[in-house]
Amino acid sequence: MHFNALTPELLVAFEAIVGPAHVLTAARAEAAATADAYADYGRDHTEDLHFAPDVVLRPGSATEIGAIMRLCHEHRLPVTPRGAGTGLSGGALPVHHGVVLSTERLNRILEIDERNLQATVEPGVINEVFQNAVREVGLFYPPDPASKGSCSLGGNLAHSSGGPKAVKYGTTKDYVLNLEVVLPTGEVIWTAANTLKNSTGYNLTQLLVGSEGTLGIITKVVFRLLPYPQHNILMLVPFRQEAQAAEAVSAVFRAGIIPSGMEFMEREAIAWSSDYLKIPLTLPEDIKAHLLIELDGQDLDQLYKEAEQVYAVLEKYDVGEILLADTAGQKDDLWKIRRNIGNSVRYNSVYKEEDTVVPRAELPTLLKGVKEIGARYGFKTVCYGHAGDGNLHVNIIRGDFGDEMWNVGLRQPITEIFELCVRLGGTISGEHGIGLVQKGYIGIALKEANLNLMRGIKQVFDPHGILNPDKIF
Ligand code: LAC
Ligand code: ZN
Repeated sequence: MHFNALTPELLVAFEAIVGPAHVLTAARAEAAATADAYADYGRDHTEDLHFAPDVVLRPGSATEIGAIMRLCHEHRLPVTPRGAGTGLSGGALPVHHGVVLSTERLNRILEIDERNLQATVEPGVINEVFQNAVREVGLFYPPDPASKGSCSLGGNLAHSSGGPKAVKYGTTKDYVLNLEVVLPTGEVIWTAANTLKNSTGYNLTQLLVGSEGTLGIITKVVFRLLPYPQHNILMLVPFRQEAQAAEAVSAVFRAGIIPSGMEFMEREAIAWSSDYLKIPLTLPEDIKAHLLIELDGQDLDQLYKEAEQVYAVLEKYDVGEILLADTAGQKDDLWKIRRNIGNSVRYNSVYKEEDTVVPRAELPTLLKGVKEIGARYGFKTVCYGHAGDGNLHVNIIRGDFGDEMWNVGLRQPITEIFELCVRLGGTISGEHGIGLVQKGYIGIALKEANLNLMRGIKQVFDPHGILNPDKIF
């Protein structure tokens, strides 16, 4: 792919489109003493990677984005779209420098349609801000990535993000009805209609969801919503054997219960996070792993019945004392601990996160395999994740690995972990996407024929290959 460099003329043209205040460069940031904030546009939450953009643009509308894309298409300038920069696969990293196009100013909730249980929002809205806004009117937007307080809905759409509630309610893709998208050539389209069903042509909506900013820039989204579930029960279940925690997961579903959260945390995951947050938690010596199980619904009596069924399942395992959270504060603390595992791991060490996913009942085999591979290659992993989805976040801790082992030597064991996922009927990313750091492994999950179809689609959308180049494949 041949790209051109940014020119002073293009800079002037960008200023005319978005206004000088929204055209940032390293030199301007230096002069304004905002170099650190500028550098942040070149990183996300993926490892310790950084690529410097030539220019950062902060457009305020789809029309402005259309004008930017037309110019970039014509002049073959690479464009990397960016939400809030919390991604874990490097999707927002400007690997070819060029333009970083930030959606941060597109942050309005345009409409909450209570009659139809829908909402129309811009992509820069923070996930939790949106959840809270719809909750005010008794509605529920379930997708809740661990970073919900800081991640943007546009980023969630780019990766079809999940989160703990996905196990009962599905991921971002399950709530999208219609998207306004600026194509790489600058044209603006809507992908579908604001309807719950639609069999009118190819499903462009779902093609855009999960496309990691390689096919278009989402500028508006129409979500469907649910009534807010009034009650929930949360329990923290300690296990003396890690394998049993993984086995108990599918047993709960087999007993006829669909929890609204079914999270696995190995001992170190929960210990690091509670230390990091300074939320004290009693962790008896013999406890090796926990399940955090949430039940939700509109009828509290029904939930207590379900909780009894869960207890009956758990009795068959070697569990410690189950903690039933009885105040809102205690529930918040437990979820805070769960949500901050990633942050606590990052705080403790440089790490690589593998977003492995297998059919739920294969989780025990995956966990055992990951630990065996780690032991064979001499690295430590901290594992946790959305056990009910068979989605295990495997964090490889850098420890005292040198650059060679970290950057090259780990490829073989990571390949083995991903091959195990595929052998078990799973794949190499459940919710973090392929982006930059997993793209070397995509051939483990997808055949050349699949990749060729994807390349063809990319070519149709983006004939000059300027939009988020060198991501996914
Ligand atoms: C989590 C993020 C890392 O589940 O996906 O904590
Ligand atoms: Zn996750």
